[in-house]
Amino acid sequence: MPIVLGIESSCDETAAALVDGERRILAQHIASQDDAHAPYGGVVPEIAARAHAERLAPLIAATLKDAGLALNEIDAVAATAGPGLIGGVMVGLVSAKALAMASDKPLYAINHLEGHALSPRLADPDLDFPYALLLVSGGHCQILRVEGVGRYRRLATTIDDALGEAFDKSAKVLGLPYPGGPAIEKLAETGDPQAVTLPRPLLGRREPHFSFAGLKSAVLRAKESGAHADADIAASFQRAAIDCVLDRLGRALDEMEPVLTLGVAGGVASNRMVRAELQTLADARGMRFTAPPPALCTDNAAMIAWAGLERLGAHEPDPLDFAARPRWPLDPDAQPARGAGVKA
Ligand code: KG4
Ligand code: ZN
Repeated sequence: MPIVLGIESSCDETAAALVDGERRILAQHIASQDDAHAPYGGVVPEIAARAHAERLAPLIAATLKDAGLALNEIDAVAATAGPGLIGGVMVGLVSAKALAMASDKPLYAINHLEGHALSPRLADPDLDFPYALLLVSGGHCQILRVEGVGRYRRLATTIDDALGEAFDKSAKVLGLPYPGGPAIEKLAETGDPQAVTLPRPLLGRREPHFSFAGLKSAVLRAKESGAHADADIAASFQRAAIDCVLDRLGRALDEMEPVLTLGVAGGVASNRMVRAELQTLADARGMRFTAPPPALCTDNAAMIAWAGLERLGAHEPDPLDFAARPRWPLDPDAQPARGAGVKA
């Protein structure tokens, strides 16, 4: 039974996990940096890199100790090698290289997006390739056809903000703490989703891409007007954002070669209304719906270990001089969305 050590440090979670080939998470530790970044309303790269450098080694030691395993009892080391904040990625990747070298085990340099994309398979043993995936996090907003390990076809991306970013920026407007997603979700429970008229960018467009910048600006205007309760703005924002997701996803599913299952991954996938509405969409299309538990949706190292397990045996390990990649598209053949700026 292979066991892989996973390391994640691409944004503001420092995480280590041990996962085995039977999908068992033997041990995991996650140190969130939310408190360190909260005063700035977003992740500060320099603060993040320093925190990863301080926390990662003891966290790996604690994870091995919890599982009762020595380094030489694992079969491979997998670490996020991009995309993400370069300082943090380098801390995790260099640590993984050192551990792989010291234990003479293979190294797998994992694309963070691949970790998210395969996370539904960690949680769901019945999920076979191919499947459709909505990947919605703070940095990414994509619709993929997941065809196999290392084989991803991207049908849609965002031309401006990612969905999680729209939650975070709208939360900031409403004076809510970072990260904004959970805060908006909670406040929206007491609000009226019809109270504030907000735009639904790109609704009905043929190409399935996303845009959330206009929605976020409308939230700012609604707040500044002073005419609405914050809970109503939060609920109306969440409703509008989900309407956009359902419309865009419907377009992408029409366009893609049919698949049996719809999956969701990334931090926003922990949102209860997002999950419920995706279930309804899947039901209406006669598709199965699968979503990892919320703790596997937000950044974690178990999904990185799992991606390593998926690669172990079937794919060559990566060399010890593998370079960290701040940008690393899952589908190198995907065309940029029209209107796209510099964001990947
Ligand atoms: O996957 P993730 O942990 O990190 C990235 O790779 O970006 O995603 C973090 C994002 C943040 O934007 C956060 O606000 C959002 O996921 N998020 C949520 C919820 N929980 C986290 N958005 C909406 N509702 C939630 N419950
Ligand atoms: Zn992520």
